[in-house]
Amino acid sequence: MSTLQEEINKRRTFAIISHPDAGKTTLTEKFLLYGGAINLAGSVKGKKTAKHAVSDWMEIEKERGISVTSSVLQFHYNDYCINILDTPGHQDFSEDTYRTLMAADSAVMVIDASKGVEAQTIKLFKVCLLRHIPIFTFINKMDREAKDPFELLDDIESVLGIDTCPVNWPIGSGKNFKGVYERDLGAITTFVAEGAGQREIETHLLQMDDPDTEKKIGSHYMAQLRDEIELLDGAGQELDMDLVRSGKLSPVFFGSALTNFGVETFLRHFLKMTLPPTPRVADTGIIDPVEEPFSAFVFKIQANMNKAHRDRIAFMRICSGKYEAGMEVNHIQGGKKIRLAQSTQMMAQERTIVDEAYAGDIIGVFDPGIFSIGDTLCAGNKKFQYEGIPTFAPEHFARVRQVDTMKRKQFIKGISQIAQEGAIQIFQEFNTGMEEIIVGVVGVLQFDVLMYRLQNEYNVEARLEQLPYEYIRWIENEDIDVAKIQGTSDMKRIKDLKDRPLLLFINSWSVGMVEERNPGLVLSEFGKN
Ligand code: G4P
Repeated sequence: MSTLQEEINKRRTFAIISHPDAGKTTLTEKFLLYGGAINLAGSVKGKKTAKHAVSDWMEIEKERGISVTSSVLQFHYNDYCINILDTPGHQDFSEDTYRTLMAADSAVMVIDASKGVEAQTIKLFKVCLLRHIPIFTFINKMDREAKDPFELLDDIESVLGIDTCPVNWPIGSGKNFKGVYERDLGAITTFVAEGAGQREIETHLLQMDDPDTEKKIGSHYMAQLRDEIELLDGAGQELDMDLVRSGKLSPVFFGSALTNFGVETFLRHFLKMTLPPTPRVADTGIIDPVEEPFSAFVFKIQANMNKAHRDRIAFMRICSGKYEAGMEVNHIQGGKKIRLAQSTQMMAQERTIVDEAYAGDIIGVFDPGIFSIGDTLCAGNKKFQYEGIPTFAPEHFARVRQVDTMKRKQFIKGISQIAQEGAIQIFQEFNTGMEEIIVGVVGVLQFDVLMYRLQNEYNVEARLEQLPYEYIRWIENEDIDVAKIQGTSDMKRIKDLKDRPLLLFINSWSVGMVEERNPGLVLSEFGKN
């Protein structure tokens, strides 16, 4: 096997999705602990106030103690090279969170065992579905009182519409959490909470037919476990890897990230079940990660690393071949050859300069303002383009105006550049020009980021008036007279900068109503770039 192939085979690139507080940060930290990337858990982002530790480039992040942008963490575990695409965990998350999922090959969904599926998980899950990527479920906080495990599985299946297959099964929860039954081994791993999860834990395996097991676990729990195993084996889904890999069946793990319990078991199974980077679709056909030379696409642009220079970092996901510092590539959308001089990569806490990287890896490349989200880069004489990244539906809208009319030009420049980076989306009134700008964002925090940046980078004071709309739909029909659409009283017609029409609604009920009133009208939650 060639070195290139070996390197690519080692790669596993995934994102962790969850509702805030389910334990995403804790689980990430424990992965790093097991990967040896940190010695003592708690040093990455221990406290909420220290959550900016990984990317503290922006004042707002520091002030609020939250991570506005997503970063990438790379570490090694056994023979694997793992890339975790970290997504902002705060409620005010941005479109970057969605875009990050475009760069991932699989997703780990963390669910709080006492709560089940929550709102933000549903939104992120929809994006995973769009890509048909494998989704692994980690049901966390079993050391606390939890819902019934069958109820949790039902919740995932009914709310998210994906089948589940438990890989292990919990015995009790909270104070009575005894451990998990490992279905592949037919044995029980007992729960130990010593050391409060600061170090890797030793696992103790109990055999089902060992008389000691009954004593340690308790006959009541053993009887219940036997019944539940019978039920699972009889009525549950089998672990069909084809279904897992096409995102139709989610392997489920129970554990407690805080105490490290179940983390290593999860990693072991996860790494075995997931594949290295697989071929991706481009306009010329399928691109094989090993056969083709370097190619990548931009999924995120991080601005203002240095306020004085307004420079940006374009984060790209390598889809094939190898990156080498200084290499010349075709920037397809820009129609030019460019040199990829210096790229950075996140290694646990630090940003380091990398000289080489492989398919599956994420690199951040200095961007003098030439890249847009979704752009493709290819080495050699190759000229193909990866499928674009969709525009995700903003949920908050506001009208934005500059205070000083003399600064109109600066205002338009600033707001357009910020939109080009993908931090906000800008729209216009349907019938008028650029004088009225409507800004759409995924999380309200982005409004603060926008105002902050207009003031600090462009020296423009702006005023923001929030609008009551929460739902946006792109109109898929090519030839349609938008004025003739039979609307509801809360519907608003707007257009994007490419003059494509869109509809805004205050409630989801109206979306359905408008679809009903206009047969043939095709509305979409995702826009094309
Ligand atoms: P997030 O990134 O998904 O938002 O969640 P995070 O890991 O920050 O975890 C949220 C809270 O839940 C934290 O407590 C964390 O310690 C706790 N937690 C995570 N996993 C487990 C678990 O397996 N069991 C228990 N019992 N708790 C868990 P916090 O008090 O809000 O924050 P901190 O001050 O401890 O950091």
